[in-house]
Amino acid sequence: MYIGTTLTNYIIETQRNLPEATGEFTGLLNDISVACKRISDLVNKGGLIGMLGSADSENVQGETQKQLDVVSNDVFIEALAHNGHIAGLVTEEMEDVYHLPKGAPRGRYLILADPLDGSSNIDVNISVGTIFSILKAPDDVEDPRTEDFLRPGTEQIAAGYCLYGPSTTMVFTTRGHGVQMFTLDKDFGEFILTRKDVQIPQETQEFAINVSNSRFWEPPVKRYIDACLAGKEGEIGKDFNMRWVASMVAEVHRILTRGGIFMYPIDEKTKAKGQRGRLRLMYEANPMSMIVEQAGGLSNTGRKRILDIQPEEIHERAPVILGSKQEVERVIQFHQEA
Ligand code: F6P
Repeated sequence: MYIGTTLTNYIIETQRNLPEATGEFTGLLNDISVACKRISDLVNKGGLIGMLGSADSENVQGETQKQLDVVSNDVFIEALAHNGHIAGLVTEEMEDVYHLPKGAPRGRYLILADPLDGSSNIDVNISVGTIFSILKAPDDVEDPRTEDFLRPGTEQIAAGYCLYGPSTTMVFTTRGHGVQMFTLDKDFGEFILTRKDVQIPQETQEFAINVSNSRFWEPPVKRYIDACLAGKEGEIGKDFNMRWVASMVAEVHRILTRGGIFMYPIDEKTKAKGQRGRLRLMYEANPMSMIVEQAGGLSNTGRKRILDIQPEEIHERAPVILGSKQEVERVIQFHQEA
């Protein structure tokens, strides 16, 4: 596949190499790309169409929803629910599984998504994104229930995100086929392949963590960040730079582009709330972990590979430490030594 080809062509070509493919997966990716183009347009227009500000409601996590959160969720459902490519859908904004309308054609896939991640950045015009994870629906299930979605990240057949930044970029991976990046050409209305078979640079000197939580961190995380801050004089022996966008999509995109490590570890604050981390496992940590691993990086909680976690709830949370292999291995080692 050549740089400059369209996402549609890329998907059709990929499907040709999968003997079991029926065209449904191609249709599903096309539906997702339509949803992302619509959300990109809304995010871009923002204040011009009165889309900024709060929606005066809370999502299942008890977080205040922004108008764009609510509308992006509607756009996502609208683009996917009627075309016969999915059997069921879960999003961050809805407490339970979304059941397809009666009579709507059913497909073989399950999708889990965060239609607009990083929403604290919407009103301040900083990058946000859509994240999605695709699973195969169990064969004999007509209307999937919660337990049908509760599968470890290793079972994802594809995952991706769309970053709404200075340009709109769609990144996705299908198991065993690497990570591809497409940039939306707005005049043309198509995502165009701009980087193929992305590999995360292994040599890195950049870390991303919300340092305002440092008093709550566990000792191995404190040890790692202290070493980064100590630079050449510290135990890692090199100088680091720090970034924190507060949009996981933007952080992962930066890591895919120039390497680095991103951490939202478990800490005393989240433990006190009875939570296992800050980020959501099934539609944030899992799809991003699949992308990072397919691009040659690592993704771990510090104690366990994220993709191996057996989920118990659709909205459960997990600690996330991902990025360049060498640095993630170092943090895992600090956990083992603690
Ligand atoms: O929903 C999760 C999220 O918005 C991520 O995209 C981002 O990494 C994180 O929250 C930011 O968290 P905080 O506001 O604690 O820095």
